[in-house]
Amino acid sequence: MYTLGIETSCDETAAAVLRDDKVLSSIVSSQIDIHKKYGGVVPELASREHLKNLIPIIREALASASISLTDINLIAVTYTPGLIGALLVGVSAAKAIAYAQNIPFIGVHHGEGHILAAHIEYPDIGYPYIALLVSGGHTALYHVKGLGSYQMLGQTRDDAAGEAYDKVAKLMGLEYPGGPILDKLAQEGNPMAVPFPRGLREGYDFSFSGLKTAVRNHVALFMDKDKGIAPELKIKDVASSFQAAVVDTLVTKAMLAASQTGVDKIVVAGGVAANSSLRKQLSEEASKRGMMIYLPGMFYCIDNAAMIALAGYLHYKRGERSSLDLNPRPTMPL
Ligand code: KG4
Ligand code: ZN
Repeated sequence: MYTLGIETSCDETAAAVLRDDKVLSSIVSSQIDIHKKYGGVVPELASREHLKNLIPIIREALASASISLTDINLIAVTYTPGLIGALLVGVSAAKAIAYAQNIPFIGVHHGEGHILAAHIEYPDIGYPYIALLVSGGHTALYHVKGLGSYQMLGQTRDDAAGEAYDKVAKLMGLEYPGGPILDKLAQEGNPMAVPFPRGLREGYDFSFSGLKTAVRNHVALFMDKDKGIAPELKIKDVASSFQAAVVDTLVTKAMLAASQTGVDKIVVAGGVAANSSLRKQLSEEASKRGMMIYLPGMFYCIDNAAMIALAGYLHYKRGERSSLDLNPRPTMPL
C-alpha cells in the first residue's frame, strides 16, 4: 500500500511517499530564507509559497519513490494545528487528489505526526512511552498508551521551547530560526556563566517567558540605544546559560514523568529535539536510570511529511479515514 503524505502547516512545504510503513521518499522545501528578514514566519507569505511549491514537491516525492500518482492508495495531510492559510493549501490539495483519484483521505494532527516520527526509525518501539514534544508551536509531555491515546501530563503555560529559542535569538540580534544558531553558540560558551531561572519547578507544566525576560534584562545591560549591543556581551555564554536552563527543565520533567508513570521509554519529538545538548543530556540521564530514549534523526525532528504519512497510514489500517468535509483548524488539542 502506498501513502502520500502532505505537510504545509507552517513554513515547510513537504511531501512523502510510504510503502506500508517504510519511507520511500521525503521531500522538504523550507521557506526560511523568505521569512528570515522579517524575524519570523509571515503567514500570508507562507500560504503563497506553499501554493507555489506544493505540486512540484509532490511530483518530486513521487519521482523519487519511482511511482506515479495513480499508484497512491491513501492521502494523509496535516489539518491541524498551524497557520490557517498554510493548512488550507495542503488540505485542499489533498482533498482534490483524493477526490480525483477516488482514494481515501485522512487528516492528521501535526503533533501526533511529530510523536509518531520516532516509529519511522524505531518501528518496534512498542507502547507505552513518554513523549516529550518540543517544537516552535508546542511544548508538552504525553503518556502515550497506544496509537491515538495521548494523555497530556503537562504543557507550556506561555511560550513553546522553540518559540523561546527564536525570541531570545531575535533579542540578541541573531537570525530566524534561532534554535540552531543558539545551539551552535551554546556549545562554545559556559552554561554556568549567567544563572538564568528554570521556570516552574513543580509538576509537569512548563513556562519559558520568565527565562526569556531574564535574558532580555541581561542583554539590556549591554545595550546602547545608538550603538546597539556592546561587544562586551558574552553572547556564547548567554546562549549556553539560556540553553542550560531550557534543557535542564525539559530533561527534569521528562524523567519525572517516566518515573511517576512507571514507563521506561521516552520519545523526543519536534524541531527542538534536534538540540545537541537536549539529546546528550537525555541520553545520559536515561542510561543512568536504565531507561530507553528514542531520538529521531534530525531530518525527522523538523517538520516533514513522512511522519504525517505514517500517522495517516497507521490510523487508516485501524479502519479510520476522514470525510472530504474535513476543514483545517488553527488549534486543536491532541
Ligand atoms: O517542529 P518544527 O520544525 O516546527 C514546528 O512545528 O514548530 O520546530 C521548529 C522549531 C523552531 O523554533 C527552531 O528554532 C527549533 O525548532 N529548533 C531548535 C533546533 N533546531 C530547530 N531549537 C533548539 N536547538 C536546535 N538545534
Ligand atoms: Zn512541527
